[in-house]
Amino acid sequence: MTEQEQIRKGLAGVVADETAISKVNPETNSLLYRGYPVQELAATQPVEAVAYLLWHGELPSDEQLAELRRAEREHRPLTAAVQAAIELVPLDAHPMDEVRTALSVLGAADLAGVGSVLDAVGTPEENLARSLRLFAALPAIVAYGQRRRRGQLPVPPRDDLDYAANFLWMAFGEEADAVVVDAFNRSMILYAEHSFNASTFTARVIASTLSDLHSAVVGAVGALKGPLHGGANEAVLHIFDEIGEAENVSAWLDEALANKRKIMGFGHRVYKRGDSRVPTMKAALDDLVAHYDRPDVARLYDALESEFVARKGIYPNLDYPSGPAYNLIGFDTVTFTPLFVAARVVGWTAHIMEQYSRNALIRPLSLYTGHEERHVAGYVPDDAAEHVSGRPEEKG
Ligand code: COA
Repeated sequence: MTEQEQIRKGLAGVVADETAISKVNPETNSLLYRGYPVQELAATQPVEAVAYLLWHGELPSDEQLAELRRAEREHRPLTAAVQAAIELVPLDAHPMDEVRTALSVLGAADLAGVGSVLDAVGTPEENLARSLRLFAALPAIVAYGQRRRRGQLPVPPRDDLDYAANFLWMAFGEEADAVVVDAFNRSMILYAEHSFNASTFTARVIASTLSDLHSAVVGAVGALKGPLHGGANEAVLHIFDEIGEAENVSAWLDEALANKRKIMGFGHRVYKRGDSRVPTMKAALDDLVAHYDRPDVARLYDALESEFVARKGIYPNLDYPSGPAYNLIGFDTVTFTPLFVAARVVGWTAHIMEQYSRNALIRPLSLYTGHEERHVAGYVPDDAAEHVSGRPEEKG
């Protein structure tokens, strides 16, 4: 086999390493977190318990969940440094840039006093604590990002509310109805982990150099921002806005496909016959449609899905139902991908810790297709220069 034939563009189909965290099975359209089907977890667990499962490998006992929740509450408030860093980001910058900046500041504070890059990785216990602190801190960062764009002050966290309810409280300054909290909790669980996706792989590449956990998470945020990955949930809402109502779908699709546009929220590198997470998120969206009495959203959703699947045989991914769900809850469209960060930080950190536990530097090869070797005009190699000038002291 030639080198050319061995290239797997986009690493498609390449098994890069083992993982015990989650299993995506495109044959059966299933997704397991540590062995549990994700839809069972979404139906029965709070996101805090799923975070524990992904980090530790088992669901928590009541005591373990209580302890995680206690620690999560402790690290919810925005620190002064993080709030100041957020406020340095221009209001018209994308909030993903704000999240990335805030996480960078958290990382610098976390590693203050660690003078050498050799000590940046830390112990497994330290990394578990860092992971928990990031999970706890992100809701306030994301919520404040949205609030300040609306000209509002941050809302302090509430100790009497669990993670999902408190997240919505900090975003909107009012207590969400139970049905909304439940739909939001399910979305956070569905977004928490998905094996070697682009952002998780980015995090693992960075961790594989023995850089610190925060640096790996910051890199993952950059990868998630792209519209081919996390940015798709935001892009779905732009498409919904463009189409307007269900009756316009056919004409809109004619034009979009004629212009070879990618329809965001559809297609997946691994799942080719449907994304295992969609039915669970669609059920959450249906609950929200009923709660907010917005059948028009469901009609548009169904019309675009059925028409696009019929024409292209490409199925929706998780971003398709989550975009309109977050819109109904009241989040601004630019906040959707930061919400994805808040959930996926659990999966990223689980993978970073797994990478550290049996590390091999990730460094593939490439096939060079550039210019043949050539030389700079007028360059004289050192040996020749000595020979020509006879003045070796002028070298260098
Ligand atoms: N809209 C229109 N066409 C699509 C499409 C979409 N959403 N997704 C895939 N296709 C088409 C491609 O144009 C390509 O057609 P071609 O062979 O005629 O050129 C074919 O299907 C294969 O697509 P490709 O992009 O090569 O597959 P991939 O495995 O690399 O892509 C995604 C996976 C996710 C990048 C791709 O489906 C996509 O861009 N989707 C939209 C963005 C999105 O929703 N991302 C979130 C993923 S969870």
